[in-house]
Amino acid sequence: MTEPVLELVEVVKSYGEVTVLHGVDLRVGPGELVAVVGPSGSGKSTLLHIMGTLERPSGGTVRIDGTDVARLGDRQVADVRARDIGFVFQQFFLAAHATAVENVADGMLYAGVPARARRRRAAEALDRVGLSHRARFKPSQLSGGERQRVAIARALVGRPAIVLADEPTGNLDSATGGAIVELLHELNADGATIIVITHDNDLAGKLPRQVHLLDGRIVRDSNAAALR
Ligand SMILES: Nc1ncnc2c1ncn2[C@@H]1O[C@H](COP(=O)(O)OP(=O)(O)OP(=O)(O)O)[C@@H](O)[C@H]1O
Ligand SMILES: [Mg+2]
Repeated sequence: MTEPVLELVEVVKSYGEVTVLHGVDLRVGPGELVAVVGPSGSGKSTLLHIMGTLERPSGGTVRIDGTDVARLGDRQVADVRARDIGFVFQQFFLAAHATAVENVADGMLYAGVPARARRRRAAEALDRVGLSHRARFKPSQLSGGERQRVAIARALVGRPAIVLADEPTGNLDSATGGAIVELLHELNADGATIIVITHDNDLAGKLPRQVHLLDGRIVRDSNAAALR
C-alpha cells in the first residue's frame, strides 16, 4: 500500500472500566472505499469517532495523512478535522433554517475558504449529488434521501482526505439507500477516500473492502495485506 491516509495502530478505547476497542490495527490507502461492518455494540461508531478525531483513543496511535494526532493540541486537531475529514451521519444533522446550498457551504466554514468561493463550490457539490434543482429548499422541504445527499455534498465540498459515513442509509428505504451507495461509489471513482460504517451486510458486500468488527476487535479484513 502507498502511504495510508488513515492509520490506526493498536488503538484502545475505554470508558472507565469498560473497554470498547481492544487494540485495533487498520490502514486505509488513498482512494479506498471501505465498509466497516459489525453487530450493534461492536464498537463501530466509537471507531468512527476516533478515526474522525472527535474522540481521542485511550491507547495506541491514530495517524491522519501521516500526522500522529496525539502530538497535536485540541486546536490543531480541530484544524486537521476541518481540513481532512468529512462526516456523514445517519441523522443527516442539517441546519433546519438554512437552505440546501447554505448547508453545503457550511462544510467549508472552518477551512478558510472565502465566502464567494464557498458559494460556488457548494453549488458545484450539490450538482454533483444531483440536487441543483433543490438548492434553495430547506431540509424540511426535502425527502430523506435528498437530505442525505445534501449531507454528503457538505462532507465532500471541502475536498477532505477522508469521508467517514456512519450508517448513511440507516434512515432510508432500500431503494433510496441503494442510490446513496451508488453515489458513494461515484464519488470514490472520482478519487474520494470513503469509510462507511454499517451493520448491513448487503451494503457492505457491494463495497470493495470489508472490515469486520466484533466486540471491539477486527476479526476479518478482506484486504488482508492491510491487517498486520
Ligand atoms: N460514552 C460511553 N460511555 C460508556 N460506554 C460507551 C460510550 N460510548 C459507547 N459505549 C459502549 O461502547 C460499545 C460500542 O458502542 P458503539 O456505539 O461504538 O457501537 P456500534 O457498533 O456503533 O453499535 P450500533 O450498530 O448499535 O450503532 C457499546 O457497548 C456502548 O455501550
Ligand atoms: Mg453506531
